[in-house]
Amino acid sequence: MMSKQKHIEGQASTRTKTILSGIQPSGRLHLGNYFGAIRQHLDFQEKGDAFYFIANYHSLTSVQDGEQLRQYTLDVALDYLALGMDPEKCTFFAQSDVPQVLELAWILGTLTPVSMMEKGVSYKDKVAQGLQPNIGLFTYPVLQAADILIYHSDIVPVGADQKQNIEISRDLAARFNRIYGGEYLRIPEPFIVESVATVPGTDGRKMSKSYGNTIDIFDSGKTLKKKVMAVVTDSTPLEEPKDPDTCNIYALIRLFAAKEKQMEVREKYKAGGFGYGHAKKELLMLVEDYFEEARARREELVRSPDTVRELLRDGGRKARERAEQVMGPVREATGIIRHYSTQ
Ligand code: ADP
Ligand code: TRP
Repeated sequence: MMSKQKHIEGQASTRTKTILSGIQPSGRLHLGNYFGAIRQHLDFQEKGDAFYFIANYHSLTSVQDGEQLRQYTLDVALDYLALGMDPEKCTFFAQSDVPQVLELAWILGTLTPVSMMEKGVSYKDKVAQGLQPNIGLFTYPVLQAADILIYHSDIVPVGADQKQNIEISRDLAARFNRIYGGEYLRIPEPFIVESVATVPGTDGRKMSKSYGNTIDIFDSGKTLKKKVMAVVTDSTPLEEPKDPDTCNIYALIRLFAAKEKQMEVREKYKAGGFGYGHAKKELLMLVEDYFEEARARREELVRSPDTVRELLRDGGRKARERAEQVMGPVREATGIIRHYSTQ
């Protein structure tokens, strides 16, 4: 029998960990995306070898307008860079600049039981929301697994809703290694910040672009004011005490305010004489303040789209190099021959 082959270098305890995450460019990024995902991505740049990408192939499952997808892709790049993504510290790129992920997705698809996809919670949710139940949407987790496995990712910081997809990636990596008799793909670990509660939207449901209830990160001026003022509250009269813990405005304030400020606002709620209009004004100021620097940086970046494209081009080159290192042994193991060289 052939001895087990090892294609993963280094001792898990000593080498720098690879961190990877992706974000779909399927609309403007909102506060739910920021607190549920983006903030963790930014923190993780400091903690290892981070790879972040714009999942534009995934977005084809919901955006079927080329001009719009191009715009959203550029917007996500601008948003991330403005919010503090640093291409010096991490590899930032577009999924489509690493065509090898589509190749690996196909290979993984041949190991994926249909029943595994049928259990997909996110697929069912999306179909219930009106997305086309097409093959792309059905096998979305397989492409996501390829995204993760192709860089030998160790840690995948994601929101709680992505837990099942990461489980699927782990399962597919283990299947591949078992079937082909070697450690070809690294089993990734999710990193989920459970402490971030679901961010409520203006109607009190989970903030989501599919509910049309978002406050976008880069909303400002009148648009921001209009959305904040529209956040639903109960009808407790101004003079009466209010419960901050059941209030959508307070749930948002909590995300932006430092501990002391949170305490101050809680006291005001409980004392009475503090209306929801007042709370909304506090929230508005906090949001304006919180993103002020990022807003200025974004305005600068918008003026130099070539710089942004160049950054993505460089990130893509680095990502392809890593992907090729993983795909070489995978092609060898599966018997997939290429009669040409990319050199
Ligand atoms: P949407 O629901 O607007 O389509 P996505 O599904 O594209 O947003 O979300 C991308 C990531 O942002 C998710 O993995 C999740 O972690 C995070 N996220 C989205 N909405 C929220 C929310 N309301 N609260 C917390 N995190 C969220
Ligand atoms: N499915 C993720 C989301 O909707 C986006 C995504 C695509 C992703 N590929 C990934 C996240 C790989 C982490 C790792 O938020």
